[in-house]
Amino acid sequence: MPRRRKSGGQEFKFLPFSPQQQRLLHWWRPGSPYAPCDMVIADGSIRSGKTIACICSFLQFAQSNYSGQNFIVAGKTIGALKKNVIGPMLQILRAWHWSYVYHRGGQDNSIEIGDNVYYLYEANNEASQDKLQGLTAAGAYLDEAALMPESFVVQAIGRCSVKGAKMWLNCNPAGPHHYINEGYIKQADAKNICLLHFGLDDNLTLSQQVKDKYRRMYTGVYYKRNILGLWVAADGLIYQQFADRPEDYVVDDDYNPSNIMYAVIGVDFGGTTSAHSFTLTGYTRGYKEVVTLDEYYHNNRKDGRLSPADVDKAFIDFVRRAKARYRVTEAYCDSAEQTLIQGLTAAAMRARLGIDILNARKGPINDRIAFYTSLMAQGRYKILRHCTHTIGALEEAVYDDKDQTKDIRLDDGRMNIDSLDSMEYSTESMQDQILYL
Ligand SMILES: Nc1ncnc2c1ncn2[C@@H]1O[C@H](COP(=O)(O)OP(=O)(O)OP(=O)(O)O)[C@@H](O)[C@H]1O
Ligand SMILES: [Mg+2]
Repeated sequence: MPRRRKSGGQEFKFLPFSPQQQRLLHWWRPGSPYAPCDMVIADGSIRSGKTIACICSFLQFAQSNYSGQNFIVAGKTIGALKKNVIGPMLQILRAWHWSYVYHRGGQDNSIEIGDNVYYLYEANNEASQDKLQGLTAAGAYLDEAALMPESFVVQAIGRCSVKGAKMWLNCNPAGPHHYINEGYIKQADAKNICLLHFGLDDNLTLSQQVKDKYRRMYTGVYYKRNILGLWVAADGLIYQQFADRPEDYVVDDDYNPSNIMYAVIGVDFGGTTSAHSFTLTGYTRGYKEVVTLDEYYHNNRKDGRLSPADVDKAFIDFVRRAKARYRVTEAYCDSAEQTLIQGLTAAAMRARLGIDILNARKGPINDRIAFYTSLMAQGRYKILRHCTHTIGALEEAVYDDKDQTKDIRLDDGRMNIDSLDSMEYSTESMQDQILYL
């Protein structure tokens, strides 16, 4: 195999490691109290320095103990892995002046360092574990392990069969009944696992200002998990802050529209027992605020089922009303209903609305919830007073207490989930960018 020193690219600029990061760096070394452990789990708050210390620790372990062996490096998606792990890892290798060859593209992504090979995996569904089959590894690093299916973690453990093999896992906490908490953290002694818990103060490179910013970004269960690093259940009201003080968010209908750069429509189509819901969401300059400006709501069960032509008409009226006040060029619609979407597209063309009808992304509901609760915590969410269905939906939304292993928004036919869906479809394509502005 060719071996060449990569010279281009940035080097990682190391700053002093905190005492907890140093424990993570050295736990595996002979003489450390944790040396007999087979695995380390670094859990805790976001941005607390877990990933950087895991990468350094894992590479030092692998390269100083083995030659000619395989290692597993995994993230939830290849994209997340490259951004969060491989990017910093290559910078670290350059800073250490360690030669490497990065093979990418095709089926197998891998990094060769000396005679060892690090295979890169994504672990986001039940089939992910199949790719590990047949491999014999001397170690594994699973970044954000709580986002991976349990089957992948079990398979990775099974693959680490070389004598002295060790594993590195890190994650932000999820619910208390998550398999990582119940099956590994709570059984750390029996399973020979070293636990290292991280808080924001364990990353010495974060300024007080940045730490304060992270603390302001979350409330409720997300604050407890992402900032305090606790494995706690999501229970009770989802938008607790909003439900406690709706007046902090509700603004009068004459709320300065010249502030709005542009607005986007979200559409959720209703079935026989649910509602058609449209939401118009505006963004103020610099994306400082996200404002629910208008809504349309028709409950098929209570108010009679609409024909497709009625839905088209309601939509056209809604778009015209929106365009009379704001710049509006996009509508994101529930992609499960392709015939209705096609109907809307044709109707929009006929009426010359000048609007693109697009499929809603429909990503994880919890990501959408996290977006709105974070905006609320930062005082960046507003809703116009006449949007009463959406206000009611935000006030009443609760987590389902029947399934405590996952956070599930209760959708039992009595809650108004439709208003929340259309609201979320309207912002989903922008949510990641806006949150970090
Ligand atoms: N010793 C260090 N020297 C320089 N930068 C560091 C050091 N430790 C952490 N950092 C930087 O701090 C930031 C957060 O660190 P890291 O990504 O390791 O945190 P994390 O706990 O994995 O966060 P998350 O839970 O969000 O994935 C990164 O930008 C990282 O480069
Ligand atoms: Mg990380």
